[in-house]
Amino acid sequence: MIVCRTASELEKMRAAGRLVGEVLTLLAAKVAPGVTTGDLDALAEQTIVDAGATPAFKGYHGYPATICASVNDEVIHGIPSGRRVLEAGDIISIDVGAQLNGYFGDSAVTLPVGPISEDAARLLRVTEESLFKAIEQVRPGNRLSDIGHAVQQHVEAYGFSVVREFVGHGIGQQMHEEPQVPNYGEAGRGPRLSEGMVLAIEPMVNAGKPAVKVLADGWTAVTRDRSLSAHFEHTVAVTAGEPWVLTARDVPVAARR
Ligand code: MF3
Ligand code: CO
Repeated sequence: MIVCRTASELEKMRAAGRLVGEVLTLLAAKVAPGVTTGDLDALAEQTIVDAGATPAFKGYHGYPATICASVNDEVIHGIPSGRRVLEAGDIISIDVGAQLNGYFGDSAVTLPVGPISEDAARLLRVTEESLFKAIEQVRPGNRLSDIGHAVQQHVEAYGFSVVREFVGHGIGQQMHEEPQVPNYGEAGRGPRLSEGMVLAIEPMVNAGKPAVKVLADGWTAVTRDRSLSAHFEHTVAVTAGEPWVLTARDVPVAARR
Protein backbone atom coordinates (compact mmCIF):
# COMPACT_ATOMS: atom_id res chain seq x y z
CA MET A 1 0.00 0.00 0.00
CA ILE A 2 1.25 3.48 -0.86
CA VAL A 3 0.38 5.95 1.89
CA CYS A 4 -0.96 9.39 0.97
CA ARG A 5 0.02 12.11 3.42
CA THR A 6 -2.23 14.89 4.68
CA ALA A 7 -1.26 18.54 4.34
CA SER A 8 -0.15 18.68 7.97
CA GLU A 9 1.95 15.52 7.55
CA LEU A 10 3.59 17.06 4.48
CA GLU A 11 4.49 20.13 6.55
CA LYS A 12 6.25 17.85 9.02
CA MET A 13 8.01 16.06 6.20
CA ARG A 14 9.12 19.42 4.83
CA ALA A 15 10.64 20.20 8.25
CA ALA A 16 12.57 16.92 8.20
CA GLY A 17 13.56 17.50 4.57
CA ARG A 18 14.65 21.08 5.23
CA LEU A 19 16.96 19.87 7.99
CA VAL A 20 18.46 17.23 5.69
CA GLY A 21 19.02 19.93 3.06
CA GLU A 22 20.69 22.19 5.62
CA VAL A 23 23.02 19.37 6.64
CA LEU A 24 23.98 18.79 3.00
CA THR A 25 24.63 22.51 2.55
CA LEU A 26 26.97 22.51 5.57
CA LEU A 27 28.77 19.38 4.40
CA ALA A 28 29.15 20.73 0.87
CA ALA A 29 30.89 23.81 2.26
CA LYS A 30 33.29 21.60 4.18
CA VAL A 31 34.25 19.21 1.36
CA ALA A 32 37.87 19.93 0.34
CA PRO A 33 41.17 18.13 -0.15
CA GLY A 34 42.50 16.95 3.23
CA VAL A 35 39.09 16.59 4.87
CA THR A 36 38.13 13.03 5.89
CA THR A 37 34.76 11.40 5.36
CA GLY A 38 34.76 10.85 9.13
CA ASP A 39 34.95 14.65 9.62
CA LEU A 40 31.87 15.03 7.42
CA ASP A 41 30.01 12.34 9.36
CA ALA A 42 30.75 14.00 12.70
CA LEU A 43 29.47 17.38 11.46
CA ALA A 44 26.30 15.77 10.09
CA GLU A 45 25.55 13.89 13.30
CA GLN A 46 26.12 16.97 15.49
CA THR A 47 23.89 19.12 13.29
CA ILE A 48 21.06 16.59 13.23
CA VAL A 49 21.16 15.95 16.97
CA ASP A 50 21.36 19.70 17.75
CA ALA A 51 18.17 20.15 15.71
CA GLY A 52 16.36 17.68 17.96
CA ALA A 53 16.29 15.06 15.19
CA THR A 54 17.73 11.56 14.81
CA PRO A 55 20.13 10.29 12.15
CA ALA A 56 18.06 7.91 10.02
CA PHE A 57 20.83 5.61 8.82
CA LYS A 58 22.73 4.99 12.05
CA GLY A 59 21.75 1.56 13.33
CA TYR A 60 19.59 0.85 10.28
CA HIS A 61 20.27 -2.86 9.65
CA GLY A 62 23.45 -2.23 11.64
CA TYR A 63 24.74 0.65 9.48
CA PRO A 64 27.42 2.31 11.65
CA ALA A 65 27.28 6.02 10.68
CA THR A 66 25.08 9.08 10.12
CA ILE A 67 25.94 9.67 6.46
CA CYS A 68 26.95 7.52 3.53
CA ALA A 69 30.12 8.90 1.92
CA SER A 70 30.94 7.21 -1.39
CA VAL A 71 34.09 8.31 -3.22
CA ASN A 72 34.85 7.88 -6.96
CA ASP A 73 33.94 4.29 -7.99
CA GLU A 74 31.91 3.82 -4.80
CA VAL A 75 28.24 4.00 -5.81
CA ILE A 76 26.43 4.24 -2.46
CA HIS A 77 26.64 3.18 1.20
CA GLY A 78 30.33 4.08 1.61
CA ILE A 79 31.07 4.04 5.36
CA PRO A 80 32.72 7.27 6.57
CA SER A 81 36.13 6.96 8.20
CA GLY A 82 38.70 9.26 9.77
CA ARG A 83 41.28 7.47 7.62
CA ARG A 84 39.53 8.27 4.30
CA VAL A 85 41.16 11.54 3.22
CA LEU A 86 39.63 13.37 0.27
CA GLU A 87 41.98 14.38 -2.55
CA ALA A 88 41.69 16.98 -5.31
CA GLY A 89 40.04 15.39 -8.34
CA ASP A 90 37.84 13.03 -6.30
CA ILE A 91 34.07 13.04 -6.46
CA ILE A 92 32.12 12.28 -3.30
CA SER A 93 28.49 11.23 -2.96
CA ILE A 94 27.03 12.23 0.39
CA ASP A 95 23.70 10.73 1.46
CA VAL A 96 21.89 12.09 4.53
CA GLY A 97 18.71 10.95 6.25
CA ALA A 98 17.04 12.28 9.38
CA GLN A 99 13.90 11.63 11.40
CA LEU A 100 12.20 14.69 12.90
CA ASN A 101 8.92 14.60 14.84
CA GLY A 102 8.15 11.14 13.48
CA TYR A 103 8.84 11.81 9.80
CA PHE A 104 11.83 11.10 7.58
CA GLY A 105 13.76 13.10 5.00
CA ASP A 106 16.38 11.58 2.69
CA SER A 107 18.62 13.35 0.18
CA ALA A 108 21.99 12.93 -1.54
CA VAL A 109 24.38 14.93 -3.70
CA THR A 110 27.63 14.19 -5.48
CA LEU A 111 30.25 16.91 -5.18
CA PRO A 112 33.64 17.64 -6.73
CA VAL A 113 36.68 17.75 -4.43
CA GLY A 114 38.76 20.62 -5.80
CA PRO A 115 39.11 20.67 -9.60
CA ILE A 116 37.82 17.50 -11.31
CA SER A 117 38.10 16.13 -14.86
CA GLU A 118 35.63 17.25 -17.54
CA ASP A 119 34.32 13.68 -17.75
CA ALA A 120 33.64 13.57 -14.02
CA ALA A 121 31.94 16.98 -14.15
CA ARG A 122 29.71 15.77 -16.99
CA LEU A 123 28.72 12.68 -14.98
CA LEU A 124 27.69 14.88 -12.03
CA ARG A 125 25.75 17.27 -14.24
CA VAL A 126 23.89 14.56 -16.16
CA THR A 127 23.01 12.61 -13.00
CA GLU A 128 21.59 15.70 -11.29
CA GLU A 129 19.70 16.60 -14.47
CA SER A 130 18.24 13.07 -14.55
CA LEU A 131 16.91 13.59 -11.01
CA PHE A 132 15.19 16.80 -12.08
CA LYS A 133 13.73 15.09 -15.19
CA ALA A 134 12.38 12.43 -12.81
CA ILE A 135 10.94 15.02 -10.43
CA GLU A 136 9.07 16.58 -13.39
CA GLN A 137 7.11 13.31 -13.60
CA VAL A 138 5.90 13.49 -9.99
CA ARG A 139 2.35 14.58 -10.83
CA PRO A 140 -1.11 13.15 -10.11
CA GLY A 141 -2.24 10.77 -12.85
CA ASN A 142 1.27 9.92 -14.06
CA ARG A 143 2.47 6.36 -13.46
CA LEU A 144 5.27 5.26 -11.19
CA SER A 145 7.45 3.95 -14.03
CA ASP A 146 7.39 7.37 -15.74
CA ILE A 147 9.96 8.39 -13.10
CA GLY A 148 12.52 5.70 -13.86
CA HIS A 149 11.92 6.03 -17.56
CA ALA A 150 12.82 9.72 -17.43
CA VAL A 151 16.06 8.95 -15.59
CA GLN A 152 17.12 6.19 -17.94
CA GLN A 153 16.34 8.18 -21.10
CA HIS A 154 18.45 11.11 -19.99
CA VAL A 155 21.37 9.13 -18.61
CA GLU A 156 21.75 6.75 -21.54
CA ALA A 157 21.59 9.61 -24.05
CA TYR A 158 24.98 10.64 -22.65
CA GLY A 159 26.45 7.13 -22.77
CA PHE A 160 26.26 6.62 -19.00
CA SER A 161 24.46 3.72 -17.32
CA VAL A 162 21.81 3.34 -14.62
CA VAL A 163 22.42 1.06 -11.62
CA ARG A 164 19.71 -1.61 -11.37
CA GLU A 165 20.41 -3.24 -7.99
CA PHE A 166 19.40 -0.24 -5.87
CA VAL A 167 16.23 1.81 -6.17
CA GLY A 168 14.42 4.77 -4.66
CA HIS A 169 11.50 4.31 -2.30
CA GLY A 170 8.39 5.66 -0.68
CA ILE A 171 9.16 7.56 2.53
CA GLY A 172 7.16 8.92 5.46
CA GLN A 173 6.95 7.51 8.98
CA GLN A 174 9.46 4.89 7.84
CA MET A 175 12.58 5.65 5.82
CA HIS A 176 11.71 2.89 3.36
CA GLU A 177 8.06 2.51 2.45
CA GLU A 178 6.25 1.24 -0.61
CA PRO A 179 6.68 1.60 -3.52
CA GLN A 180 10.15 0.84 -4.84
CA VAL A 181 11.21 3.49 -7.36
CA PRO A 182 13.57 2.06 -10.01
CA ASN A 183 15.68 4.40 -12.14
CA TYR A 184 14.94 2.57 -15.38
CA GLY A 185 12.05 1.02 -17.29
CA GLU A 186 9.28 1.67 -19.77
CA ALA A 187 6.93 4.60 -19.27
CA GLY A 188 3.26 4.14 -18.37
CA ARG A 189 3.55 1.18 -15.98
CA GLY A 190 2.75 0.64 -12.33
CA PRO A 191 0.47 2.51 -9.94
CA ARG A 192 -0.82 5.98 -10.72
CA LEU A 193 0.63 8.76 -8.64
CA SER A 194 -1.79 10.66 -6.48
CA GLU A 195 -1.77 13.70 -4.24
CA GLY A 196 0.04 13.15 -0.95
CA MET A 197 2.34 10.34 -2.09
CA VAL A 198 5.97 10.96 -1.11
CA LEU A 199 8.88 9.37 -2.95
CA ALA A 200 12.64 9.40 -2.43
CA ILE A 201 13.98 9.44 -5.98
CA GLU A 202 17.66 8.57 -6.20
CA PRO A 203 19.36 7.92 -9.53
CA MET A 204 22.71 6.13 -9.25
CA VAL A 205 24.64 6.56 -12.48
CA ASN A 206 27.87 4.93 -13.62
CA ALA A 207 30.26 6.39 -16.16
CA GLY A 208 30.92 2.85 -17.41
CA LYS A 209 28.88 -0.33 -17.21
CA PRO A 210 25.88 -0.66 -14.86
CA ALA A 211 27.13 -3.63 -12.78
CA VAL A 212 27.98 -3.11 -9.12
CA LYS A 213 29.25 -5.28 -6.28
CA VAL A 214 29.25 -4.90 -2.51
CA LEU A 215 32.63 -4.90 -0.75
CA ALA A 216 33.60 -7.17 2.16
CA ASP A 217 32.45 -4.52 4.69
CA GLY A 218 28.92 -5.61 3.73
CA TRP A 219 27.85 -2.07 2.74
CA THR A 220 30.01 -0.23 0.20
CA ALA A 221 28.68 -0.74 -3.33
CA VAL A 222 31.28 -0.12 -6.06
CA THR A 223 31.19 -0.27 -9.84
CA ARG A 224 32.49 -3.63 -11.09
CA ASP A 225 34.48 -1.91 -13.85
CA ARG A 226 35.88 0.67 -11.37
CA SER A 227 34.32 3.52 -13.35
CA LEU A 228 33.14 6.66 -11.53
CA SER A 229 29.61 6.74 -10.12
CA ALA A 230 27.31 9.59 -9.06
CA HIS A 231 24.18 9.71 -6.87
CA PHE A 232 21.61 12.47 -6.37
CA GLU A 233 18.47 12.11 -4.27
CA HIS A 234 15.48 14.20 -3.24
CA THR A 235 12.38 13.45 -1.18
CA VAL A 236 9.45 14.65 -3.32
CA ALA A 237 5.70 14.93 -2.65
CA VAL A 238 2.93 14.66 -5.23
CA THR A 239 0.66 17.73 -5.02
CA ALA A 240 -2.21 19.00 -7.16
CA GLY A 241 0.26 21.47 -8.64
CA GLU A 242 4.02 21.34 -9.04
CA PRO A 243 6.09 18.54 -7.47
CA TRP A 244 7.09 19.58 -3.94
CA VAL A 245 10.78 18.91 -3.30
CA LEU A 246 10.73 18.45 0.47
CA THR A 247 14.53 18.32 0.72
CA ALA A 248 15.04 21.44 -1.43
CA ARG A 249 17.77 23.81 -0.34
CA ASP A 250 17.58 27.59 -0.53
CA VAL A 251 21.06 27.92 -2.03
CA PRO A 252 21.93 25.50 -4.84
CA VAL A 253 25.29 23.79 -4.28
CA ALA A 254 26.52 24.89 -7.71
CA ALA A 255 25.97 28.57 -6.92
CA ARG A 256 28.26 28.44 -3.92
CA ARG A 257 31.26 26.81 -5.55
N1 MF3 B 1 19.39 6.95 0.81
C1 MF3 B 1 19.69 5.58 1.14
C2 MF3 B 1 18.45 4.76 1.04
O1 MF3 B 1 17.44 5.33 0.86
C3 MF3 B 1 20.34 5.50 2.43
C4 MF3 B 1 20.23 4.26 3.23
S1 MF3 B 1 21.72 3.96 3.95
C5 MF3 B 1 21.49 2.89 5.20
O2 MF3 B 1 18.43 3.56 1.07
F1 MF3 B 1 22.62 2.73 5.76
F2 MF3 B 1 20.63 3.36 6.02
F3 MF3 B 1 21.04 1.77 4.73
CO1 CO C 1 16.95 6.93 -0.10
